Amino acid sequence: MAGIPNDVIEEVLSRADIESVVGQYVAFTKRTGQNLFGLCPFHSEKTPSFTVSTTKQIYKCFGCQKSGNAIGFIMEMEKLSFPEAVKYLGDKYGVEVKWAEDDNAGSKDLKDRKKRVMNILTETAGFYYKALNSNEGKAARDYAAKRQLSKDTLTKFGIGYAPDGFDNLYKFLKAKGYSDEDLKDSGLFTVSKKGNLIDLFRGRLIVPIFDSFGKIIAFGGRNLGPELPKYVNSPDSLVYKKQNHLYALNFVPRSSKQLIIVEGYMDAIAMHQAGIDNAVAALGTSFTDSQLRLASKFAEEIVFFFDSDKAGKAAAIRATKMMLSYLKRMTGIKIRIRIASVPEGKDPDEYIKTYGADSFKSVVKSAKDVNDYLFDRAYDDNYDEGSGLDLTRYQEDITTYGSWIFDPIKREKMAVLAAQYLSARAETILFAMEHAEKASMESSRNNEQREMEKDTKNEVERRRGNTPVKVPDADRVTRDEIELFVRCVRLRGALADETKIIRNDVIRKNDFSGANMREIVGFFLEHFNEKTGVSDALLITRMNDLLLNGLKAEEFYLKACEQIRPESNINAEIDMYKRNLYTVRIKKCNEELKLVDSMIQTTEDKEKLDEYIKLNDKIELYRQKLIEKRNKL
Ligand code: UTP
Ligand code: MN
Repeated sequence: MAGIPNDVIEEVLSRADIESVVGQYVAFTKRTGQNLFGLCPFHSEKTPSFTVSTTKQIYKCFGCQKSGNAIGFIMEMEKLSFPEAVKYLGDKYGVEVKWAEDDNAGSKDLKDRKKRVMNILTETAGFYYKALNSNEGKAARDYAAKRQLSKDTLTKFGIGYAPDGFDNLYKFLKAKGYSDEDLKDSGLFTVSKKGNLIDLFRGRLIVPIFDSFGKIIAFGGRNLGPELPKYVNSPDSLVYKKQNHLYALNFVPRSSKQLIIVEGYMDAIAMHQAGIDNAVAALGTSFTDSQLRLASKFAEEIVFFFDSDKAGKAAAIRATKMMLSYLKRMTGIKIRIRIASVPEGKDPDEYIKTYGADSFKSVVKSAKDVNDYLFDRAYDDNYDEGSGLDLTRYQEDITTYGSWIFDPIKREKMAVLAAQYLSARAETILFAMEHAEKASMESSRNNEQREMEKDTKNEVERRRGNTPVKVPDADRVTRDEIELFVRCVRLRGALADETKIIRNDVIRKNDFSGANMREIVGFFLEHFNEKTGVSDALLITRMNDLLLNGLKAEEFYLKACEQIRPESNINAEIDMYKRNLYTVRIKKCNEELKLVDSMIQTTEDKEKLDEYIKLNDKIELYRQKLIEKRNKL
């Protein structure tokens, strides 16, 4: 693998014992000799078919057939690339993996460019640092003193000063022999209309941004006065993606199990100075999922501080939603989330200066668990001294927040607590939360659908170019299709009852795109027509040698059966089935319409053109009917 030497990979594999790596995600239920057994983390199952061999140092699942070593396991579990997984394990098991992020991809040329940028950044930090401690840095030194930044802090964090003027840094770096191209890569300059490079940071106190290894990857600059903008920050560059980093993480002791996350890097610096050495800052307006993943590698718990103003509160809700949905998808990541707020509308920096570090630590202690935080927010945001609790809004908020909570016990607890305010039973509230969750899953599925339509468009473009048309892979099945089929099998008797489902609304082979799925549906329909019905067991015999989306059809189907929850009663189930069917058919119409349209656009033949237009109208009419039917459900 490019970038990481083989001996480093071997070292990682020898230290990252498979049992302990996998053991962080899987609870082993049995051990025989050198083999461990547990429930597979990659597919849902009720009896363990997942094994780990401590002698071979590999894992294997006899259910979903996945297997590999510790690195492969982490790649799969954490959705990382090979070098990322090696680095992940190296970090955890104390092997230094020399490979800067992103370095795995790209040519030698790109690597050289990055290297030069890193050098520029280091030299620039030196330049700024020197400027702070020279004559011209007087105003900046005064400002730092006003903010009570100690001499030690200035040194430790490498704080500097960007002199006023348009080309101080430019001249300094040019004298070192860097080309304009390299300087542009560094993100330290803007380009004027005339094409000249202008220093980005001018007359500002400078804070270097480090990666988690302590390398300088960017800068931030604070204005010394009240003029705007208050801060200027390096843009993303070859070596800096702000969404992937947490400021000051390199200064947090390895042993720390908790990370405190604040909004501003000046806050983080003030906290470290006050002895709170587990503080980091998000580098931008919103906390990202990749920052959450980074945090989860270092700590078991994160405590958030958001500003207590309106924008801060909105940011807290946004970040909470993102984190909960990320953790729901990434079952391998375990991290406790707590949310705190600084009293009196101060930020952490101001609070520590006024009340001291101990007082701040007790604020950290009082941070609320994320679920409790959401519960309280729903109340506080909708409560008014005069008119009391706005029940309509409260209900909306609590339903939304409850839908984000994936731990069923915690969700139920929230519903039970909310029941005291809403004169409704806890079960009803819980039901509303589940419903809201489903609706949001549906809308994200609609997004996927849009993606798929984009694919169709590409397909049409390809057809226009007269390249051979690729037949859909035999094993292909879409999410809507499999859901339709699962419900169909579940309906059994009702499907044959014409008073409930008319003949036209029974699935057909060509509702499905892939040949394998058509095969299975054909088998189902044969039995359906003979009124013998099909049990899962019988269906599975037919699936025997087929694949669906790359997996054994049987596995794929059973997994889908588990994931697609039945509705509470048969009528609701029938409605869901129909909704599904219409969706699949509408989508098919959409695909057809696009193809026909491309034919209309490209044909030269007048007769053919009329034919295509008629076809287009016919499909469109049918599509409208389906949409109408779906809307009526
Ligand atoms: P704040 O406005 O809360 O700043 O912005 P602060 O950290 O309290 O700064 P001081 O104490 O007044 O110096 C929080 C964070 O938002 C980003 C910065 O990262 C800042 O730390 N920010 C803010 C900008 O990027 N640009 C701005 O103009 C303002
Ligand atoms: Mn501040």
